[in-house]
Amino acid sequence: MANVNNSGEREQWGSKIGFILAAAGSAVGLGNLWKFPYMAGKNGGGAFVLVYFVMLFLVGFTLMLAEIVVGRHTQLNAIGAYRKIRKNWAWVGALGVLAGFIILSFYSVVGGWVTAYLVKALSGGLKITDAQTLGNMFGQLISDARTPIFYHAIFMIATLLIVYGGIGGGIEKASKIMMPALFIIIIILVLRSVTLPGAFKGIEYLFVPDFSKINIGVILDALGQVFFSLSLGMGCMITYGSYLSKDTNIPESAVTIPLIDTAVALLAGLAVLPAVFAFGFEPAAGPGLVFITFPAVFAKMPLGGIFSILFFVLVLFAALTSSISLLEVVVAYVVDEWKIKRKIATVALAFIIFLIGIPASLSFGPWAHIKVLGDRGFFDTYDFISSNILLPLGGLLLCIFVGWVWGTDKAVKEASNDGQLEFKLAPFWSFLVKYVAPVAIAIVFVRSLIG
Ligand code: PFF
Repeated sequence: MANVNNSGEREQWGSKIGFILAAAGSAVGLGNLWKFPYMAGKNGGGAFVLVYFVMLFLVGFTLMLAEIVVGRHTQLNAIGAYRKIRKNWAWVGALGVLAGFIILSFYSVVGGWVTAYLVKALSGGLKITDAQTLGNMFGQLISDARTPIFYHAIFMIATLLIVYGGIGGGIEKASKIMMPALFIIIIILVLRSVTLPGAFKGIEYLFVPDFSKINIGVILDALGQVFFSLSLGMGCMITYGSYLSKDTNIPESAVTIPLIDTAVALLAGLAVLPAVFAFGFEPAAGPGLVFITFPAVFAKMPLGGIFSILFFVLVLFAALTSSISLLEVVVAYVVDEWKIKRKIATVALAFIIFLIGIPASLSFGPWAHIKVLGDRGFFDTYDFISSNILLPLGGLLLCIFVGWVWGTDKAVKEASNDGQLEFKLAPFWSFLVKYVAPVAIAIVFVRSLIG
């Protein structure tokens, strides 16, 4: 009884587009909306975008295909999938499930902040033009002992309710609503942003490459961004792929999903940077851009109240379609392997992950003095262990597994639906998965360990 529907079979995606939207939903998230524009700014604008594209082709598509193929071949969760192909490789899947557990615990804390800001935007409480005041407001929210935990709970409950509904009735249905809404909202925001006087500087910032800025650091940053942004390295796409029917065109999906993710990252850059420049702000790092600079930008705009609501709805949808995929990785494992009912597993796991997230939230306030790993508090420790260690390691091991242990010939057989489908790039993909991708990832991994 594994993730079964009423007729006793394993659940499957209801449609091809349902799978694409759910998988793209997993990929499109906080990583695209605030990280990409900032990384581009930090790393020479268009130069970064160019390198990102190269990395996307060399590693992004390669791993996306590898994960989906393993998932569909085995029709199992991340751990079960590795075990089915090679018994003693199950631990690699376990690393992925662990990563999902940890990432969701702090992703949900940030999702809680987004929810809190949406509530603020809805009540008109964000009509403040002074970045300093907004900065204090953000600081107050995240350092409070109770409010962020309350919103963390709300975000987790929203995640849980979707996953509770299963693959077709929960994740696919939610993605089919939220992803189109997300596209519409981001296009409205881009149109607003690029038509502001002075917006051109922001467009230039994103697209005009400054080649003198390309160095090994930029290349490695771009590779890391491809990884996190595409939800690769922790068996998320193995899990989503496991609900695919045998006639899906995997090579096509493995191209479409990264393309959608990249389009949204570029659109996010086009929504964020022109507006930031038009109002004379500096593109600030990380959370600052979303929670401080952006409300200030909106407050200065005509109809800014509506745009700020739209913006936080957009961020919330993006975060939710990613958080459900993180929870699904863990739920699928418990349902498949421990034979626990999906509904019970979902509620229990969401509750445990919520509890694990509490120290991450408190680490911005009452527990700020507690250091867990070096000088990192709980939040930063969770982020470091998962993003910098578990994901790259998981991706590297996936390449070795598919390229050398299982074998690319078997993977290609699965990817081409037993030869029924033409997979022209098979030799090229095999080369990438055996040699290029693992070497590239190994470099990032070593560098992230050095710091
Ligand atoms: N891809 C998501 C983002 O860009 O925000 C984050 C993420 C989701 C990473 C799911 C890993 C994952 F399995």
